[in-house]
Amino acid sequence: MSDRPILIEVPPRFRVVTGPWDAEVDERTIVLGKSHAFGDGRHESTRMCLQALASFAPRGGFRLLDVGSGTGILSIGAAKLGGEAIGVDIDAAAIAIAEENARRSAVEARVRFATTWPSGTFDVVTANILRDVLTELAPRIVARLAPRGTLILSGLVFTDVPELVARYSPLLAGRRPEIFERDAWRTLVWRLA
Ligand SMILES: C[S@@+](CC[C@H](N)C(=O)[O-])C[C@H]1O[C@@H](n2cnc3c(N)ncnc32)[C@H](O)[C@@H]1O
Repeated sequence: MSDRPILIEVPPRFRVVTGPWDAEVDERTIVLGKSHAFGDGRHESTRMCLQALASFAPRGGFRLLDVGSGTGILSIGAAKLGGEAIGVDIDAAAIAIAEENARRSAVEARVRFATTWPSGTFDVVTANILRDVLTELAPRIVARLAPRGTLILSGLVFTDVPELVARYSPLLAGRRPEIFERDAWRTLVWRLA
């Protein structure tokens, strides 16, 4: 098997490197080890989340809750944007992988990962998981969103959108999301500010 890193550009703000990386780890480079955990920047749902973070995360510092953190890629991306992040995942092995990836990416002081949800509210909440999980988690996710926060939901295909909007919009004062699309994949963004 090749020991060469895989490089994925996620313009305009990030590049994701998976595998050995001896070069500089700058503010746009997310470095991941090879692992079974999901989230290496190749999937459209992850890429759209990174791009939504780059576009909509508040400038000058913010707190992110990353539900379903996988490799930690979104938390690490948020830290590269100047935020502080907490990632939660039901997979304890993914937590250890995400912690290692945060070290590889030189942002371990700005992120942490756990299998239990933190208390409090967050300026930005991301959740890139499948439709049924997002539907079930809706009240817990919305409860963690600050009143003027930004919610980014992904992992959805176009046929999932009506159900997800019907589930989340009533919990968000009737607000409708912006919908971003790439091929069949959709990302929903509620900006409450
Ligand atoms: C599609 S991956 C997303 C990984 C990464 N955040 C990304 O954007 O590429 C979904 C992750 O959600 C986790 N997950 C599934 N159900 C969950 C739940 N109920 N609570 C928290 N995490 C969950 C999975 O273990 C998996 O790591």
